[in-house]
Amino acid sequence: MKIVIAYSGGLDTSVAIRYLKEKYKAEIIAYTSNIGQKIEPPDILEERAKKAGAKKFYYEDQREKFVKDYIIPALKAGAIYQEKYPLATSLSRPLIAEGVIKIAKKEKADAVSHGCTGKGNDQVRFELTFKYLAPDLKVIAPLREWEFKSREQEIEYAKEKGIPISTSKEKPYSIDENLWGISIECGVLENPWTEPPEDAYQITNPPEKAPDKPEYIEIGFEKGIFASLNDKKMKEIEIIERLTEIGARHGIGRIDMIEDRLVGIKSREIYEAPAAVILHTAHNEIEKLVFSRDLYEFKKIVSIRYSQLIYFGQWFSHLRECLDKFVEETQKYVTGKVRLKLYKGNCIVVGRSSPYSLYKEELATYTEKDIFDHKASNGFIEIFGLTSKLEGGRKK
Ligand code: ARG
Repeated sequence: MKIVIAYSGGLDTSVAIRYLKEKYKAEIIAYTSNIGQKIEPPDILEERAKKAGAKKFYYEDQREKFVKDYIIPALKAGAIYQEKYPLATSLSRPLIAEGVIKIAKKEKADAVSHGCTGKGNDQVRFELTFKYLAPDLKVIAPLREWEFKSREQEIEYAKEKGIPISTSKEKPYSIDENLWGISIECGVLENPWTEPPEDAYQITNPPEKAPDKPEYIEIGFEKGIFASLNDKKMKEIEIIERLTEIGARHGIGRIDMIEDRLVGIKSREIYEAPAAVILHTAHNEIEKLVFSRDLYEFKKIVSIRYSQLIYFGQWFSHLRECLDKFVEETQKYVTGKVRLKLYKGNCIVVGRSSPYSLYKEELATYTEKDIFDHKASNGFIEIFGLTSKLEGGRKK
């Protein structure tokens, strides 16, 4: 039997390699993907995977694909789960699972595997993707079947079996990181009343320690895609990296929330997503300028549904394909620039412009430049107010 496992290099997946090898008498192939997390060099990961018991190791840089195929569509769709979470972890799971399946097909494997626990969302995201891309492959989730009750027990097992453990020092949190943001949970964060201690945040400055001078930035969009920063054309990945750095310095992108997991559990998670917060803010601002009221409000409904399908692991689905067609059409006029002021945790829109703007100063103005026909409002209110008149009359 041959099993391909999504390998992070951490304790769980290292122990899982040995567990799978022994329990299923299997040949294990480890697959690690670079999606913009802090990652050890491939040779170190390979050595660890092999010492854990893997026969082969694959490493893939999926960053560009992550940006093009996942982050950009999610941004265009305005996908933010439960009003706060820009979905960094959620978006990365189908991407990694795609990589696992590619290797499984190449290696003619019998099964695929991951290191997710039995109570989270990530197991669902991995496995729905596996099912969609390779309906006949067996899926094994070692963390749902093994007997370890704590990290300590896993460490004990690893020592016993001579499995090397990552040398990076143990953090009191569970952290997941990629280009689009960082998710942090466990430890003291499990008490929803406790303010996150400073050491929980990995990259952002606390707002009170952010620079005392605001910083202005300008982001340019072309058909919904961020294309320039401060009037300089840049690759999307570079813009994300730059905004992560600038935003983090100004304490932007900290999110502390209670969220509803798919399995019914309410959990407290904190996020750091400076680039995602800045880009969603800017992107939404152009939409405000170029969309009709009807389109703006209807698209908000689509955004909610889209965020749910990402969160629920249904990235690969006909629903998403259909919504993508709708979203793509909406982005036709989402071209323009947004000016933002970054200051102590705040990302404030201070200017916006677009060649397709529906904003007309002559209509909005209260000066003599006004061209709006005030008298036309008489008839408009007469008819629009008819129902109010009827209802009010009935009440009397
Ligand atoms: N709650 C987030 C989600 O479901 C992140 C999950 C992973 N978090 C973590 N700290 N390991 O997408």
